[in-house]
Amino acid sequence: MKKLAFAALAIVATATFAQDIDERKILSLNEMQRHHILTEMRALLLGTQQILQAITEDDMLAVARHARMLGTEMAHSGENHLRSVLPKDFMQLGISVHKSFDQIAADAETLKDTKHTLAQLSMTLQTCVACHAAYQIRTTDLPAEAQPVHHDHH
Ligand code: HEC
Repeated sequence: MKKLAFAALAIVATATFAQDIDERKILSLNEMQRHHILTEMRALLLGTQQILQAITEDDMLAVARHARMLGTEMAHSGENHLRSVLPKDFMQLGISVHKSFDQIAADAETLKDTKHTLAQLSMTLQTCVACHAAYQIRTTDLPAEAQPVHHDHH
């Protein structure tokens, strides 16, 4: 019985991972652009964790504070130079996430309803999931050691 279940699991696992080529749309970026985006991503993950922590402590002011840091203010800090290289759909998804966090912050202050905040957070995370399912980053740069030395700073 156990063996059967294991075999079934193995089949499911194979089916899930059969696609060994990453077929998500490619964002062709240089190292700096990749670093910028991934740094923001880690901040989104950290902020989400901090919001959840604040909810467990019933601290809705902290929820608002952490959510606001992930809001449209965050988007303004340096995304301009990426706007020209990123697809519109991608930008739209990103902006929608930042707007959701603004709304989470505002509602946390006024409604102070943890269940409502959790529902909003869950909705917001669907956008994270959707974007990750659709896009991958590939860098156009050569490996550092193979790169000619040059001094242009952007
Ligand atoms: C507009 C698209 C988009 C949205 C929205 C988005 N991400 Fe990402 N995220 C990406 C892409 C693209 C990557 C790189 C994936 C790859 O190359 O495989 C990434 C990578 C990450 C990483 C890995 C960071 C690293 O250092 O490697 C984390 C963590 C992450 N995202 C968290 C989040 C969270 C949490 C949210 C929502 C609150 C979110 N992202 C929303 C596009 C998005």
